[in-house]
Amino acid sequence: MEWTPGLSVGIGKIDEQHRELFRKINDLVDAIKHSTCKYKIGDVVKFLEDYVIFHFGEEEGYMREHDYPGYDAHKKQHQEFMDNLAAIKAELPKLEGGKKPGSYGLSVEVNRVVVDWILEHIAKIDKNLGAFLRDVLPEDACGII
Ligand SMILES: [Fe+2]
Ligand SMILES: [Fe+2]
Repeated sequence: MEWTPGLSVGIGKIDEQHRELFRKINDLVDAIKHSTCKYKIGDVVKFLEDYVIFHFGEEEGYMREHDYPGYDAHKKQHQEFMDNLAAIKAELPKLEGGKKPGSYGLSVEVNRVVVDWILEHIAKIDKNLGAFLRDVLPEDACGII
């Protein structure tokens, strides 16, 4: 997947984190396609999960700081994504260790609950947050906008 300017939420710091998120998601997609070992895939899922926790925490911090009215609904979506990742992690032990997983089912699931999910979340939910923040933040909010 590729980050394109059309996905910008108008807040530089959040866009930069989304680009990093895309890199980590691509690492996961590649690991599922090419990895010979499920433990390697598990490591990549963990890197993605750690980064997602950081990124969601940042967005939720902005929302609380500025009394964002859509906080609860947005946070609920973040939780849904974490649940999706947990479900993927739960699938891994079912793959055969040491052999090429070649799991078609797993890559379909990752495409649906990670790739498609994040694209839709950014296009709607994060863009709404970005528009709100651009309104409330001072124009010289250095390093954020
Ligand atoms: Fe978000
Ligand atoms: Fe986001």
